[in-house]
Amino acid sequence: MRMIVTTSHKPDRRQVLKALELAKQLNVKYVSRRHLVQREGEAMLIVESDRISALKDGKRLFFHPSLAIIRRANIRSGERDYLIESLDLKGDERILDCTLGLGSEAILIAYFLPRGKVIGLENSPLIKIVVEEGMKHANFPQKWVTEAVKKIEVFKADYKEYIRKTEEKFDCVYVDPMFEHPGYSSSAINSLRPFADNSTIDTKDIEVMKRIAKKRIVVKARWNDSVFERYEFDRVIGSSKSGVGYGVIEI
Ligand SMILES: C[S@@+](CC[C@H](N)C(=O)[O-])C[C@H]1O[C@@H](n2cnc3c(N)ncnc32)[C@H](O)[C@@H]1O
Repeated sequence: MRMIVTTSHKPDRRQVLKALELAKQLNVKYVSRRHLVQREGEAMLIVESDRISALKDGKRLFFHPSLAIIRRANIRSGERDYLIESLDLKGDERILDCTLGLGSEAILIAYFLPRGKVIGLENSPLIKIVVEEGMKHANFPQKWVTEAVKKIEVFKADYKEYIRKTEEKFDCVYVDPMFEHPGYSSSAINSLRPFADNSTIDTKDIEVMKRIAKKRIVVKARWNDSVFERYEFDRVIGSSKSGVGYGVIEI
């Protein structure tokens, strides 16, 4: 994917310096907004005054913890959350989230880990920066979100390589790849789509994960995703209404 880094219009010095730093980090060109003409198919990382966003083919991605906020509120009003149920957290675990995306589920998981940690991997460099910077610098009105994001460490990595190389062990390994049959109903996931790694999980990846998971592996997919046919999970839980299941493997 062709990429450039720029700022919003009329940037201050701090924005320009940040854009230059990110361009260097990504090894791509910094282009002053004044001289910018975005080409078709080109992705642009934009350092705005209060956040960093990405733009491609008219679609904009920015960080917002809204899905985590809604899910926590639903849990507090007594609704089941199948991700949290499937992880069965005690509160002090180290969780590897292989597919960080917008970080909504990582934030929700971190909320249930008063003494634990989430290590989030993301293979798209733009998504990684937008989400990591958003977590670091946003002012959240919800104190619990501020506390939760402090427990998340973000790395740019392909989980398929990471799980084969790491010497570390994690209590749970969680994977939520882009759906094989996308629903297009989630506007949050739609905003990720132009920037995301669309690779599917294969059964060998799951076997490799058993080496680094101490308690369980959880894989999220739509009910009609082939992973639920290709791999025999110990159980799959989820609601038929949402069309999404969580496949659990106990170690
Ligand atoms: C469906 S989204 C995850 C959404 C996330 N659970 C959340 O709460 O926002 C999948 C994300 O995983 C990333 N991804 C896909 N394959 C990956 C891989 N092999 N390694 C690391 N990240 C990957 C995609 O770029 C995308 O951002």
